[in-house]
Amino acid sequence: MGPKLYIKTFGCQMNEYDSARMADVLAESHGLELTSRPEEADVLLLNTCSVRDKAQEKVFSELGRWREWKGERPGRILGVGGCVASQEGAAIHQRTPYVDLIFGPQTLHRLPQMLEAARARSNAPVVDISFPEIEKFDRLPEPTVSGPGVFVSIMEGCSKYCTFCVVPYTRGEEVSRPFEDVLAEVALHAGRGAREVTLLGQNVNAYRGPMADGTEADLGLLIHYVAAIAGIERIRFTTSHPLEFDAGLIQAFAEVPALADHVHLPVQSGSDRILALMKRGHTALEYRSIVRRLRAARPGISISSDFIVGFPGETEADFEATMALIEAVRFDHSYSFVYSPRPGTPAAAYADDVPPAVKQARLRRLQDRIGEFAAEYRAAMVGSVQRVLVEGRSRRSERQLAGKTSNNNTVHFTGPGDLIGGMADVLITADAGSSLRGELAAPRARAQGQTAANWI
Ligand code: SAM
Ligand code: F3S
Repeated sequence: MGPKLYIKTFGCQMNEYDSARMADVLAESHGLELTSRPEEADVLLLNTCSVRDKAQEKVFSELGRWREWKGERPGRILGVGGCVASQEGAAIHQRTPYVDLIFGPQTLHRLPQMLEAARARSNAPVVDISFPEIEKFDRLPEPTVSGPGVFVSIMEGCSKYCTFCVVPYTRGEEVSRPFEDVLAEVALHAGRGAREVTLLGQNVNAYRGPMADGTEADLGLLIHYVAAIAGIERIRFTTSHPLEFDAGLIQAFAEVPALADHVHLPVQSGSDRILALMKRGHTALEYRSIVRRLRAARPGISISSDFIVGFPGETEADFEATMALIEAVRFDHSYSFVYSPRPGTPAAAYADDVPPAVKQARLRRLQDRIGEFAAEYRAAMVGSVQRVLVEGRSRRSERQLAGKTSNNNTVHFTGPGDLIGGMADVLITADAGSSLRGELAAPRARAQGQTAANWI
């Protein structure tokens, strides 16, 4: 039995992507095999997130749990990566001296050298939380895992500096991955049978990828090229920012049928006063204008968003402006949270003056209303035939399959296992609460050339 690696991931899709890359890097350099059982692991990495809540405290209490694991067998390596590592750096060692490795989101490609150094270390931990620009992308091995739907990171970091957010400090400023490299990675996955690709970035539409001829490609252009890769039937991107949601990107929804019928476009608040305090760089009206043009380019497109409720100084009138925006746009999903001050951000110096009970009540009202819209959208889909990417067996029942519609709804339906990994046309028969139920519309419209063995 070879050496084993266990990774525990917190936070966003970027972190999920980074964890997969950590596994790739250490498989190539040290033959480490990923395990889902920490007790058999030789190396254990925590990939942390510091966007919300008491992230640092959570990480320290998590590390406390792994102290015993570390002591059980000599030679075990315990590492902390991600945004908390980036923010706290060597301070982690002061509180938890048994941690061997501390690395940031931009230095995970250096894990092999760090692992060697950690094995040789006597006392101090190995710390590397620098931002070596694009080096990370250049040094990563080919991704080892593909599937029906894959994530491909196209840019890193964020230069927007919203006043509440730690990301620019923990992940660094925006850096785009070269255009050809992105296409090569998508083509690699497509060659292994991937049908859907999600282009990832903390601020994905700020993408300005250098091209071989010295010019730069933006996200709209990249999407046109990705759509031309044989096998790719569906394209998503996340997370975008209203500021760079330009005419070319909107036009792509009219021109590229492979672009999914869904956009996740964070707005945070519907109050111009709060948007200014957050330093978002746009007004609620400008946001609505993007939505209007998107719906003209792609009628029926579903739009989801991020909201922060109870930002410092948020009055009842500000919150009503957010609810008015929700009524106008009719979002069908949200990632919404109460504001939590993040150390080192400008907003941390503002008085966090909205009482917790008020924050919670506002959040509940917002989520309830968006939940009502979501239910209306699901009800309207009953009776329609949806093209579904069949991702695997349903977690609810082994006999059922689960897939995603273009507008990002999960559908459970009965069908043969060899549909997994391909697209299927599914008649939606019922709204099942947070997902949909369906039945195969045309059994012959099965994914061609796909075998379940590819994925399971
Ligand atoms: N690029 C995206 C955008 O345009 O807003 C956001 C990425 S951010 C890492 C993910 C989400 O976390 C944000 O949209 C925001 O809603 C939430 N978030 C970030 N900082 C927060 C804080 N201090 N308190 C509560 N939520 C926060
Ligand atoms: Fe954070 Fe604002 Fe960037 S929310 S990730 S600083 S767009």
